[in-house]
Order: sequence, then C-alpha cells, then structure tokens
Amino acid sequence: MRVSSQLISPDGGRLVDLVVDDSIKREKMKEALDLPRIKLSKIDLQWVHVLSEGWASPLSGFMKENEFLQTLHFNSLRLDDGSFVNMSVPIVLAINDLVKNRIGDSDRVALFDPDDDHPVAILSDIQIYKHNKEERVARTWGTTAPGLPYVEETIANAGDWLIGGDLQVLEPIKYNDGLDRFRLSPSQLREEFLKRDADAVFAFQLRNPVHNGHALLMTDTRRRLLDMGYKNPILLLNPLGGFTKADDVPLHWRMKQHEKVLEDGVLDPETTVVSIFPSPMHYAGPTEVQWHAKARINAGANFYIVGRDPAGMGHPLEKRDLYDADHGKKVLGMAPGLERLNILPFKVAAYDKTQGKMAFFDPSRPRDFQFISGTKMRTLAKNNENPPDGFMCPSGWKVLVEYYDSVASS
Ligand code: ADX
Repeated sequence: MRVSSQLISPDGGRLVDLVVDDSIKREKMKEALDLPRIKLSKIDLQWVHVLSEGWASPLSGFMKENEFLQTLHFNSLRLDDGSFVNMSVPIVLAINDLVKNRIGDSDRVALFDPDDDHPVAILSDIQIYKHNKEERVARTWGTTAPGLPYVEETIANAGDWLIGGDLQVLEPIKYNDGLDRFRLSPSQLREEFLKRDADAVFAFQLRNPVHNGHALLMTDTRRRLLDMGYKNPILLLNPLGGFTKADDVPLHWRMKQHEKVLEDGVLDPETTVVSIFPSPMHYAGPTEVQWHAKARINAGANFYIVGRDPAGMGHPLEKRDLYDADHGKKVLGMAPGLERLNILPFKVAAYDKTQGKMAFFDPSRPRDFQFISGTKMRTLAKNNENPPDGFMCPSGWKVLVEYYDSVASS
C-alpha cells in the first residue's frame, strides 16, 4: 500500500466517510425503521451522497446552525484547532412544521429515499433551527430575484426549519442509471491518481458539453504544468452530476459527449480521469465556485482551472449575466481556506475566425472573434446547423444534435 502523502491532504486532514461499516448495517437499518422519518427530495439525496463520500470534508452531516451561519457569513468553517477550511454553500436539510412536530424531542431521525420507502441514513445529535429563506438566498446568490433555478426547485417551497446533525449513511448512494461506474468517490479518485503515479492533479469542473475552448484551457494547463517541471500531471474531468437547470444538457448526454471528446483525441485518455461530481448546481457564481474548488481538494486535486463566469448564468429578469464574468476567478484567488489550492485562471476563449479554431480572446482585434454562447449552441443544434469548424469535435457535436432531436420529438 502506497502512502497518500504525494497528494494534497483533505480539508481537516482526514477524508470523511459517512457510510456505516457492513458489520453494523443490519442493526442500523433496524434502528432507522423505528425513528421519526424525513422523506428526502431527490436533491436532498444528492447532498447525502456528497456528504457521505467526504466531498465536503470535514463536514460530517447536514449543517447545524453554527456551521450554517459561518458558511453564510464567512464562506468558511473554523476547525477546533483554530484553522479555517472553505465552505461557501450551505448544505442543509429543510423540514416543515408537521415534520418538526413529528420529530418531537427525539435526538435522531431516519432519512428515507425519495422514490421508495427505504431508509438511506440516520441523522443523530440533531439540531432544528429557523430557515430564514430570504437571508439564505440573498447571502448565497447576492439577489432574491425570482427565477433562480435552485431556489425555485428546493428553497421557495421548502419548510421553515432546518435540521442539522451527524450523518450515518446505510449504503453507498447509487442511481442505477448506467452511470454509477463513473461516480468515483474522493477516496477512489485518490487511489486512481496514486495508481497512475500523478505528481500533480488538475481539476476541471463543468456542467456543459466540452467545446474546444474548454479543451484549450485543459491542454494549456497540462503544458504549463509540464513547463513547471511536473512529469505526470493528471486531469480530473469532473462533470457535475446533480441538479441542473432545465435548459442545460442532461448528464447522460453530456457523458456521451465527453466520451466522444476523449475518443476523438481532443483530450488524452491516458492522462485524463473522467468522473462525475455528485453535487447539485446552485448557479451562485463566485460563491459557488469556491465550493466547486474546495470539493476537488478533497478529491486530491492541487490545481484548479477557472475561466469565464464559472457557475454563472443569465440574470433571471434582466438581459445580462448575473455575475461579473471575472469575479469567479478573482474570488478564488483570495478565498479563505483555499490557500493550499493552486488556482489557474484563464482568459475567455472564443472562436478566432482568422485561425478557424478556438483561441484566447485578443482584445486588440475583437472583430476576429465570435462568441458562441450556450444559447447560440442550442439554437444551432436544434436547427440541425453546424457550428464553425474547430468549435467542437464533430462526433461530440453529433451527440448534441441527437439530444436536441430527442427533445424536439418528445
Ligand atoms: S460551470 O457552471 O461548470 O462553471 P461551464 O461548464 O460552462 O460552467 O464551465 C466550465 C469551466 O470552463 C469554468 O471554469 C468556466 O469558467 C470555464 N469556461 C467556460 N466557457 C469558457 C470560455 N469560453 N472561455 C474561458 N473559460 C470558459
């Protein structure tokens, strides 16, 4: 067994693993059946998954009030030894009055699967506190404008209470959607990086299909790391697998597209690990990108790529981006608790008409560049039109056209 000291250590020094040992599983299952129940939503279950595998290390369950307040006000958590780790997005579980009353003075509850009636976890040493939705939304997103996808989906109609506690998960979370084999936990990813003898791990978070602009960021990073003297930098291509907004491309189509990008040699399979990041998406820009980066430290990445408007989206009411496109990378470079992570900021990439390929935008000749937004891409694919040559590998583009065809005919 190799020591993992080659890789960056997880936040808090130890990777949290909240899945109970097989030896006590039956006993815990039995215990869960006798406890007050909370039926989870699909997104709650995604958070159970995230917590269970230690992506949020050292967090050991849904946030209690102290953790929630530190997250909202400081974007970080103070540990017992006085040090800080980054934590910018509340990982909380909301309940309504009815459930609160049902829990009464029990000090533990069972969390039940959203689809069927089986227990997935026990939450113990619980604490119930007020869910001030407006404050949570305003502080996390910097706006309470109606139409924020995560807010509409999970917060607007959620209960007025939050319940925190220590989580014991009864079995590893699986989705049985054919993609579980791509859902490596932080500990499995660390094993994989060690197996490949990585001397640097650079993470790329994404929720969109890979175009050649994204690929440029990744290949340029590899080149930079080799120039810095690393011998075997490994790329963690880590598409987000939890909740995304309705007009984003669904996960299984994106995975097909990513497969083509690797088959086509746009990215090198020898030096790339493709794996799904189980978190839901907030679209909270500079606040959320900190979570995206922090979680990848726990997965063993010591370099993090960030480009234009990470975790951003259009303003729900106005015709502009919700966040300044440069703030994500600026914030990452200064974020409390992320000092150990090497941030690799990138300029915006756009289609350079003079070269017929994606390149870094050169402000001295703006007319030579074409910006192909997500909306533009969707329109082209929907209308069965092709993007300019060199924007995306043809086999990857074909997957997108198939996806939009399937939407149109359903
Ligand atoms: S995100 O929500 O996961 O950030 P997306 O999948 O669009 O969205 O982006 C993944 C990463 O690529 C982010 O770091 C983002 O900043 C970067 N990025 C996306 N498009 C561009 C672009 N045209 N130029 C530079 N960076 C980009």
